[in-house]
Amino acid sequence: MNLILKPGDLAALPDDPARLFGREAPLALEVGFGGGRFLTHLAEARPAWNVLGVELSGGSMTRAFKRLRRAGARNVRLFRGDGRFVARDVLPPGSLHRVYANFPSPWPKKKHRDRRLLRAPFFRLLASRLASASGALHLTTDHERYFRSAVRAARSTDLYRMRFTPPPHAALGTKYARRWQDQDRTIRHVAFFSENVPPFSFPPVIEPTPMHHAILQGDLPDLAEFEKIVRQFDGGTVVVLNAYRAVNETTYLFLTLVEEEHLRQKVLIEARPSENGVFVGLKPFGDALSTEGTSEAVDCVTAWLCERGLTVEEALY
Ligand SMILES: C[S@@+](CC[C@H](N)C(=O)[O-])C[C@H]1O[C@@H](n2cnc3c(N)ncnc32)[C@H](O)[C@@H]1O
Repeated sequence: MNLILKPGDLAALPDDPARLFGREAPLALEVGFGGGRFLTHLAEARPAWNVLGVELSGGSMTRAFKRLRRAGARNVRLFRGDGRFVARDVLPPGSLHRVYANFPSPWPKKKHRDRRLLRAPFFRLLASRLASASGALHLTTDHERYFRSAVRAARSTDLYRMRFTPPPHAALGTKYARRWQDQDRTIRHVAFFSENVPPFSFPPVIEPTPMHHAILQGDLPDLAEFEKIVRQFDGGTVVVLNAYRAVNETTYLFLTLVEEEHLRQKVLIEARPSENGVFVGLKPFGDALSTEGTSEAVDCVTAWLCERGLTVEEALY
């Protein structure tokens, strides 16, 4: 199995962490691992754990990947995306032994506060994903107001017991930790132990759907008139950004952004002549997860082609 997990590697939602790592072991998650120093330390210090890192930034993914490869870590998987998607949709209830948030993005402006990760909804969700007897979330931050708001949020859920200690040595080696220590900022640490199981189980919100496609009759139109298509649907938004003609002249590719709850995928929808007519479907490229959103994307392209004279022979979505 690859060190990097892609949405398309997920067999189901939630998935089985033992399948993703190829072995049963206690699972630790780091959300927002940045350059991956702490993640690498964790993987080396805890060879008997499975360590999952989730990070939004592509540059950080690359840096962490190189660091982990140099270290020869085998008990780690990296996922580029939103920690909230992984916690809610990928991981089953009770599966997490530890969660680490080191210097999470503080979003200091008032109007951005709802972008903070450690708010009450996330604490409630996490309480359902942490192993009830031993599971804990460790927060280390230099941002006093974030620290206090996270403590308040956890307390408001009535699901955690907290332990305040000096930050662990390993959390002080990250890029941000070093930067703030150089500026003599106080670094705070708290461990949130899950004490109660929430009454609601927070089932996944993303529905994986079987591969979807349409067969159309008619000739593919001129691409010159293509303009960006934006479609809102119940679970998110599809934006068909651009259309391309392949070198073989017969296949059209539509570069499409699919945004669903905390899951953002860039996919290619193809339209190409086949034995039965024009096939429109999700191109098996880039390891996309086939979801309700990608199905909407296929429907968007189908609708665009139908507005240009093609007719639907068969639509499987
Ligand atoms: C201030 S940096 C800290 C990085 C690292 N933990 C360190 O201590 O150097 C915060 C990181 O969290 C990532 N991040 C923010 N929100 C996230 C989310 N919802 N899911 C995953 N990563 C996230 C950002 O891309 C960024 O790399």
